[in-house]
Amino acid sequence: MTRVVVIASLLALRVSAQGSPGLPFVINTWGGPFTAATDAAFLSLKNPTTSALDAVQIGCATCEKNQCDGSVGYGGSPDENCETTLDAMIMDGTTMKSGSVAGLRRIRDAIAVARAVLEYTTHTMLAGDLATQFAISNGFRASNLSTPEQEARCAAWREENCQPNYRTNVFPDPKTSCGPYTGVSLNSSAPGYKKAINPDATQASHDTISMISIDASGVMAAGTSTNGATWKVPGRVGDGPITGSGSYVDGEVGGCGATGDGDIMMRFLPCYQAVENLRLGMSPKEAAEDAVKRILRKFPQTASGIVVTSAKGEHGGAGSGWTFTYAFRGGNMNATEVVRVPPVNPVVEAIRMQA
Ligand SMILES: *[C@@H]1O[C@H](CO)[C@@H](O)[C@H](O)[C@H]1NC(C)=O
Ligand SMILES: *[C@@H]1O[C@H](CO)[C@@H](O)[C@H](O)[C@H]1NC(C)=O
Ligand SMILES: *[C@@H]1O[C@H](CO)[C@@H](O)[C@H](O)[C@H]1NC(C)=O
Repeated sequence: MTRVVVIASLLALRVSAQGSPGLPFVINTWGGPFTAATDAAFLSLKNPTTSALDAVQIGCATCEKNQCDGSVGYGGSPDENCETTLDAMIMDGTTMKSGSVAGLRRIRDAIAVARAVLEYTTHTMLAGDLATQFAISNGFRASNLSTPEQEARCAAWREENCQPNYRTNVFPDPKTSCGPYTGVSLNSSAPGYKKAINPDATQASHDTISMISIDASGVMAAGTSTNGATWKVPGRVGDGPITGSGSYVDGEVGGCGATGDGDIMMRFLPCYQAVENLRLGMSPKEAAEDAVKRILRKFPQTASGIVVTSAKGEHGGAGSGWTFTYAFRGGNMNATEVVRVPPVNPVVEAIRMQA
C-alpha cells in the first residue's frame, strides 16, 4: 500500500515536470491578471538592449500599475490603520546583488525603488519613511496609495470588529474587538504556553508577484512586488522583500519566486532552499516540493506557492493550502501559458515520510 502511494507520487512528479520552451524566458507566480506582467516582461526581452533585470522590473511594475488581484501596488492590502505600504525586491543572478524596499510609504513604484537601491547604493534594503525619502531624492513622486474603494473596505472591517485580525495574546480579545491592544503576560511553564505562541495560522490569502527572467544569452534576474497582508499590524514586513524568501536567483543554477503566508514562509527561506535543491540535482518541481514540505512539517496549515526555473528555463512549481498557479512564456511561444499546481497532499505526505 505504502509503496504504491510512493510510486504513484513519484510518477506524478515526472509527468508534471516541464521542459523549457527556450530563451528568452519569463516565469512568475499566478495566472489570471498576472499574465499581463509575464507578457510585458517577455516582450521587453525581444529588444536586445533590455536586460534580465529590466524585464523583471517591467513585469513587476505592470502588476503594480494594474493592481494585480489587489495584492500588488497601491490601493490594496491595507493595514489596521487603512494604510497601504509596499514591499519589493530585485536580484541580479550574475552579481548576486539585490536591492529591496520594505514598508515603503506613499510611493507607487516599489520595484523601481528596489532597483534604485540596487543601482545607487551598496546596501540591500531600505525601509519605511526613510525609504520614501530615498525614493523622492531619486526623482520618484509621492502620492496617496489609498483609494475610495479601500477606505470603504476599511470602514466595513471596523464595522465587523476588525475581523480577521493578526493580533494574538492581547487584550481586548482580538477575535471579537478592535484595538488598541496590550499584550497579556505569558507564562512559559504553563501548560497552554505552546499553543498560545503557536496559534493556528489561517488568514485571508496573500498574493504576490514573484518573477524570474532569463534573457536570450542566459543572464538571469528575479524580483518580487507586493502590498503585503490585508489587516496587518502596521509595520509588518513579509517575505516579499527578503532575498531568498520572496525570490532568489543564482544565474549558474536557476531562480525561484514565492507567494503565500509570508510570515511563516520567510522563516524557511524557501526560494534559497529551492535554488540550492536545484544545485544538488533536483528537478525544478522536486526542488519546489521539497521547499514547501519543509514548511509544512512545522506549519501544516500554510498556504504557499513556489515556482522554480532552471537556468535553461525548465520549470516546475509546488504549493499548499490552495491551488497555486504560475505563468510562463519563452522561446517562440505566442502567448503566456498558465500551469495549475494542485496542493501537496498532506495524506500522501504523511505516508511518504513514514516510508
Ligand atoms: C488618500 O485617499 C483617500 C481615499 O481616496 C482619502 O480618504 C484620504 O483622505 C487621502 N489621504 C491623504 C493624506 O490625502
Ligand atoms: C507559571 O506556571 C507554572 C506551572 O503552571 C506555575 O507553577 C508558576 O507559578 C507560574 N508562574 C507565574 C509567574 O505565574
Ligand atoms: C506563433 O505564430 C506564428 C505566426 O502566426 C507561427 O508561425 C508559429 O508557429 C507560432 N508559434 C507557436 C509556438 O505557436
